[in-house]
Amino acid sequence: MDKIVVQGGNVLSGEVPVSGAKNAALPIIAASLLSRGHHILRNVPELADVATMLEVLRVMGAKAERLTGNKKSTCEVLIDGPVHPEAPYELVKTMRASVLVLGPLVARYGRARVSMPGGCAIGARPIDQHLKGLKAMGAEITLTEGYVEARCKRLRGATVNFDVITVTGTENVMMAAVLARGRTVLENAAREPEVEELANVLNKMGARIEGAGSDVITIDGVDELRPMDHAIIPDRVEAGTFLVAAAITGGNVLVKNAVPEHLEAVLLKLREAGCTLTTEAGGIRCKGPRVLKPVDIKTAEHPGFPTDMQAQLMVLMSVANGTSVISENIFENRFMHVPELHRMGADISISGPTAVVKGVKKLSGAQVMATDLRASASLVLAGLRAEGRTEVSRVYHLDRGYEHIEKKLRGVGANVRRVKG
Ligand code: EPZ
Repeated sequence: MDKIVVQGGNVLSGEVPVSGAKNAALPIIAASLLSRGHHILRNVPELADVATMLEVLRVMGAKAERLTGNKKSTCEVLIDGPVHPEAPYELVKTMRASVLVLGPLVARYGRARVSMPGGCAIGARPIDQHLKGLKAMGAEITLTEGYVEARCKRLRGATVNFDVITVTGTENVMMAAVLARGRTVLENAAREPEVEELANVLNKMGARIEGAGSDVITIDGVDELRPMDHAIIPDRVEAGTFLVAAAITGGNVLVKNAVPEHLEAVLLKLREAGCTLTTEAGGIRCKGPRVLKPVDIKTAEHPGFPTDMQAQLMVLMSVANGTSVISENIFENRFMHVPELHRMGADISISGPTAVVKGVKKLSGAQVMATDLRASASLVLAGLRAEGRTEVSRVYHLDRGYEHIEKKLRGVGANVRRVKG
């Protein structure tokens, strides 16, 4: 297994590009199932999770390929001929977002058989709300041998009031609704930029969706859609991670393509911590302060502070001048980076969903282990600041969500390299 080795202490400066958003690319790839024809997806990040989603489509009988050479950020999906509407356990267990094919398959093929995504490191992550929405639209749902089987000749519009705000639940039911008969109203819907981006793509394909980005989304079903040609929005979590890299090294970095509107809660907290953030033509510039101020964080659904940035802010606060309180309100087990940060000298105590972070003068390099995607990014950030050498193992977690992170960080002066394991 590969490792990332970081020699801490360098002050980052220069420009770093942000790739396409993983959490927009995954539902958009699934959305290609909604229309026959030749789909073109641009600015698609080269990530393990994206490769898995393309493989899920190929297993179903679609042609789903990433182009090569200077077009390698473009993927093409060809949907024509029969599609076998089944997502196998072997693939779903490696990437739970495969469940996003459920809505499109039932909507267009009248049936789907998708392995139940088990829990993952950060939590149980049930899909009861996904199924609640499909049932409300007339799907017959059965759970057999660890698979969800959904059937419905033609879904009909319904009002779905989500009991919890769920990003992929909103996306799955929205995709099911675009080909249903009549109007569907999603209430208590997720407001993430990736949900809005998916609605934009579906509308380009001929869907009739209004209200995406708010908590009430209205979808008027149509009989068929046309293929997409779309460039995916930049990844706000990757952008936020690089802003923290600038902040934690006291550097000055322009994060190119970052969209301020997608990161407002994060920008506010970085400013509160003493960073100077300016919006420039090409993105967002972050200048880290000599001394970081402590800030309290409460993760929440968008537009609140994103849970996917919690670990990164915790690392920043671990070297702030004072005490910060961080509450993780979205997932039940998203503090797995804490024991690893302890090994580097961080002073963090956990009580249930709350972590009290007492800033320390310095972190020391150590051998640490990645446990989940964003935790692994936070360990690399800690290594940038720590004195000495930090080795992050199990970086396959990192490769799920960050495209060539060590290359991008080297591009702004970090001493970081990947060691093939
Ligand atoms: C999406 O996961 C993202 N993944 C996650 O990003 C992100 O952390 C999460 O949203 C929250 O923002 C993708 O978009 C592919 P949820 P998702 O359904 O949709 C509970 C990353 O790092 N819930 O919004 O699976 C659930 O247990 C990943 O890129 C139910 O109870 O998250 C959680 O506590 C990690 N029943 C809360 O809702 C359901 O049916 C939010 O989950 C669905 C969810």
